[in-house]
Amino acid sequence: MANLVKFVQVEYKKIDIDDLLVFKKIVGQSFVFTDEQKIQEYSRDETEDLFYPPEVVVIPEKTSQISKLLNYCNKKNITITPCGARTGLSGGSLPINGGVSLSMERFNSIIEIDERNLQATVEPGVINQIFREKVEEKNLFYPPDPASKGSCQLGGNLAENAGGPKALKYGVTKDYVLNLEVVLPTGEVIWTGANVLKNSTGYNLTQLMIGSEGTLGVITKIVFKLIPLPTKDITMLVPFNSVEKACEAVSAVFRFGITPSALEFIERDAIDWTLKYSDIEIKMSDSVQAHLLVEVDGDDIDLLYKDCEKITEIMQKFDCGEILLADSQRQKEQLWRLRRSISEAVKSNSVYKEEDTVVPRAELAKLLMGVKKIGKKYGFRSVCYGHAGDGNLHVNIIKGEMSDNDWNNKMPRGIREIFKLTKILGGTISGEHGIGLVQKGYLDIVFSDKNLELQRGIKNLFDPNHILNPGKIF
Ligand code: LAC
Ligand code: ZN
Repeated sequence: MANLVKFVQVEYKKIDIDDLLVFKKIVGQSFVFTDEQKIQEYSRDETEDLFYPPEVVVIPEKTSQISKLLNYCNKKNITITPCGARTGLSGGSLPINGGVSLSMERFNSIIEIDERNLQATVEPGVINQIFREKVEEKNLFYPPDPASKGSCQLGGNLAENAGGPKALKYGVTKDYVLNLEVVLPTGEVIWTGANVLKNSTGYNLTQLMIGSEGTLGVITKIVFKLIPLPTKDITMLVPFNSVEKACEAVSAVFRFGITPSALEFIERDAIDWTLKYSDIEIKMSDSVQAHLLVEVDGDDIDLLYKDCEKITEIMQKFDCGEILLADSQRQKEQLWRLRRSISEAVKSNSVYKEEDTVVPRAELAKLLMGVKKIGKKYGFRSVCYGHAGDGNLHVNIIKGEMSDNDWNNKMPRGIREIFKLTKILGGTISGEHGIGLVQKGYLDIVFSDKNLELQRGIKNLFDPNHILNPGKIF
């Protein structure tokens, strides 16, 4: 521990009337907000019940304005926290030291869809779903599809390296980013790479920015790679009476040589709670403990049906129940809407804490059974679901009847034990939600001191005054 580069707590300057005048001069009078409603709005994201009000919300429109803002704040020692739609699940975009909340919502233009090169250049405030629909009109595909795709912004997806169900076959956000325009804390603007599919030219600053949670620079343009849009897909819902068997079936599918375009695990409570908040009906016998939601995609429907037959055979080896094959576009959409609503349903049901564990796929059953055992030891219930094909399990720890005292003291010890198990199984503590604020106390489980020292060194190099989203990750 001795030579670890520790961050000292920096005292930041409070924003005063003169600072506000400067901000207004840079972005325009009507894009600087200090009113109660806006401040409240930017104090929260989707992470449990966190609340960190900024002193001011600033909504710029151009890279040159961000450059001036950062340059000014860096000189004045004012913190700036970039944010997108604040749909994050690790507190990454919350201004925990007050200061400026830098909203990227006006960076909402799709600058170019380059059909010749299968690339697109966009601003970071574009909503994921709007982007995917625009490229789909041209028969192109942008696969990363976080559950919040209808509202989350691409810049936030980059900041946390978001995934989603399609990550299984197609990869996560980082796999689609070729080049970035970034404003550094000094106000200088750089491009991180080149608009090419191969690049072995120097350190990979593009990938360094992805997942850096707005702590190194502010992304102002993104160049994405796109792929041809698959034209057919089939969705099936597979019930199991045993959660363990459901998890074991997951890796068997891949060992059989099939790569579904999604393979999601949903524990019984997660489905029951989500059905409570939706108009969807699914018949389930009382003995069902979990489901796998499986999708295959491609262009040849006969081949896809053959894949489904093979998947059925595999699932039956693990004692699945009667499989539901979605027989209409509407039913498919219902099933996926149900899946995407789980996080919100769990949230509405009880105070909870969401973890984003990930292990090598074949260890999934061990992780799940371990989580249940640890829950028994510390007295909490958990509801699990997630991207099983990626070994990425969202563990929702439910407060339920737990006393406040147990919740505040025992629960964090339980989480530590879950994360230790994750590490022992060869995994890590976040697959797609990021470290942000809520997981940073557990980084010692997965990184050596030397590794953390290097990461802190990178932060210091980019942002020596720690004005950009301070207090996150480390
Ligand atoms: C999901 C979010 C929570 O998978 O990542 O629903
Ligand atoms: Zn997820």
